[in-house]
Order: sequence, then structure tokens, then C-alpha cells
Amino acid sequence: MVNLNENYLKNFISSEEIEKFQSKVNEINSEINYCSENENDFKGWVTLPSKFSKDDVKKINEAAEFIKNNADVFIVIGIGGSYLGAKASIDFLHSENYNYLRKNTPKIFFVGNNISSGYIEEILEICKDKDVCVNVISKSGGTMETAIAFRIFKKFMEEKYGKKEAGKRIFCTTDKSKGTLLKLAKKEGYKRFEIPDNVGGRYSVLTAVGLLPAAVSGGNIEDILKGAIRAEKDFLQADLKKNSCYRYAVIRNILYNKGKSVEIIAGYEPRLDMFFEWWKQLFAESEGKNEKGIFPSSAVFSGDLHSLGQFIQQGSRIIFETVIKSDCKLGKLTIPESKENLDELNYLQGKSLNYINKKAFEATINAHTDGGVPNILIDIKDFSEETLGYLIYFFEKACAMSGYLMGVNPFNQPGVENYKKKMFTLLEKPGYN
Ligand code: PA5
Repeated sequence: MVNLNENYLKNFISSEEIEKFQSKVNEINSEINYCSENENDFKGWVTLPSKFSKDDVKKINEAAEFIKNNADVFIVIGIGGSYLGAKASIDFLHSENYNYLRKNTPKIFFVGNNISSGYIEEILEICKDKDVCVNVISKSGGTMETAIAFRIFKKFMEEKYGKKEAGKRIFCTTDKSKGTLLKLAKKEGYKRFEIPDNVGGRYSVLTAVGLLPAAVSGGNIEDILKGAIRAEKDFLQADLKKNSCYRYAVIRNILYNKGKSVEIIAGYEPRLDMFFEWWKQLFAESEGKNEKGIFPSSAVFSGDLHSLGQFIQQGSRIIFETVIKSDCKLGKLTIPESKENLDELNYLQGKSLNYINKKAFEATINAHTDGGVPNILIDIKDFSEETLGYLIYFFEKACAMSGYLMGVNPFNQPGVENYKKKMFTLLEKPGYN
């Protein structure tokens, strides 16, 4: 389903270097797999897929059905881990353009991930003559961007439908037992979905945080979970010969220790763009602390070959790439014939775009490795729900292992909390001086 290909690392890393990590990986694996119910032991995500109850799946699917039947537009409000995974999942399954093509499911817009008045006004304008449902998502329940957007949309919904009907159209995903949003949701009687205490924001995509929006988009969430359960089993043991996600984590650390401090995750399908944004947050917040960490960046080729390509090929030698590739063919377009050949493209006539895209991949990976950029290749079978669930879990577990190998706590984000506090102080929130 997901295959780690090390062919393009040969000149940079040896198998012996990887194997030296085995005993450390064994130790960390026991640490990761041991998860208590303690809310500060943020490892609930490790067994989340296999523990997901049939009832919870049913509840999410029922809410999604209601939303599909009652809304032309579905507004998802959240930021960071309460936004990126949901959008990543939807785009992975259907591509961003699907929002314009979709007929049987509502158009989906994400707000609360910025503080732009212009952006929110545009979405409100889109909603004006449409039937709308809202899903507000916040683990802490107090994130300012989310709260601002939700206050605006709550008012909009109540003016449009009246308080009672608006209440039926607003769905709230938040902590089980605490937070401002939970109190508000209880008071207003909104339908609620719980984020387990021991699952942090960026590891929460396989809860209702990511699954409800994915289900509304038409995704089959049972299949997403099926893929994740398979990955949970595949990556339980620490053996670096068998556990490709730990192998990926080890390779990253070896490259980091050799001065490669920037990782570019790259792919050749635009629908991966948001998946990369989710991946960036996962790794940036998990590893970037104590003055350590690999800076996570992303590129969608071939477009970015015409911007970042020059730097990757010949700039500072601090980069390695992780390329997500699939042989599954999306689309069937071929180069049309042209008698006049004014564009001099007839040498490609009749060839499929998938074939040309594959050649772009081969040319790029060869050029970049020749240029001193190690390339980790991750082959994915297709863009199905199962592959999505598998890939999400692959990176979550790899990220935990990688963070521990680097000597940081992959489950906190003290830097983000600093920004939040400083913002509250500047805006004179009561209690923040
Ligand atoms: O990963 C994290 O914990 C953060 O990025 C949060 O997801 C983000 O700050 C949003 O927080 P919340 O879900 O509490 O609104």
C-alpha cells in the first residue's frame, strides 16, 4: 500500500548506518506503544484506529448524511491540527477542483484558519443564498482564530435560520470534558463529537476532526480507518528491516546528522498539496524545538521545478527530498494531434500526460540526486481512502519516532502557546498582562 524505496539514497546512506539505530529504535518503540489514559500522555493516536468504535463511525456517518441532505455549503471552522488534516483528506480523495464539480455533496469551505476579514466576507457572501451547515473544531476550545470565525458564523446562522434551526445545523468537535467551546456547545444543544483527551491537535485527523469533513465530502471513513488499522498492525514491531515508517524516521535522522536540515516533501499530483501542508505541521510542531529539527517544506512538481527547482539542484546543500509517487493513473488525457505542429509538440502526440508526468519524475529524481540531494521515495498504491488512512498513520508514527530520536518531545508545542499568549496580551484579553 505504501512502499519505502531507498534506491536514490545509495550514495548518501549505507544499510549499516541504518542498522546501528536498531537498539535505540527498540527502546523508543516500547515508549511510543505504551499509552496510558492520562490526558498528558499524548499517545492516544497510536491505537486510535483499532479502538474506533462502530458507534462512533455510525454517529459521524449520520451527521454527514444530515449535512449532505440539508446543505449546499458546508463550513468547517478550525486552525492547525483542527483544519489541516480534514482539508488534506478531502483533497487527497478528490482534488481541490472537486469543490467546483461536486453535485451530490455540499461545497466545502474552511474558515478560522486566518484572520482575514476579506476572506471571511467572501465566504459569507457565498453562503447568503445557500443552505448551510457548520462544523466548528477546536481541541482546546479557546483558539482565537476559530472563536472569531465561529462567533461570526453563529450569528450568520441564527439570523438566517433562527436559533433553533441554526442549532441543528451546527456541529461541534471539541474536548470531551473541558473548554469554552464545550460549555457553549452544551448550552446551545449542538450535536457534539469528542476528541479524546490523550490525542493532540496534529495527531487528531483520524478522529471526528478529520473524519466528519471527509465523510461529508463523500469519503468512506470506514475505509480510511481500515487503512489506518492495517498501518497500526504493520508498524507495531520495531524491526527496522520490516518497519518502513521507523526506517524513514531513522533515515531522516541520519541525513540531519550529516547537515541536511531541510526536508522537502514533493509529489507530482496537485491533490497532494494539502496533504503536504498537514505533514509540514505534523513535523514542524513535533520536532522544531530546543533549537533542533529538520525544517519541513513542500513542493508540487512539475510546477515548483520552475521556482524551487534551481535552489534544490544547485543551492545550499542542506536539502533532502521525500517524494510521494503513485503509479495509479489519474485521468486519461493524451496529447492531441495537430497537423500544423506550430507548437512543435508532435514528438509527444498520442502520449498520455501520465506518461509525461512519470518522465518528469524520473528526470527530476536523477538530476537532484546527481546534484547531491538525497531522495527518499515513497510509492503509494493509489489515492483511495485506505491508502490515505495508511499514509496518515505512517507519518504520525514516523514523526513520533523521529522526534524521540532527535531528543525532543514530539507531542508538545510550547512555541505555539507563546504566540497565543502574546497575542492575547496585545489584544488585552482579561487575565493577560
Ligand atoms: O497541533 C496542535 O496542537 C495545534 O496546531 C492545534 O491544532 C492548533 O493550535 C489549534 O488548536 P485547537 O484545536 O485547540 O483550537
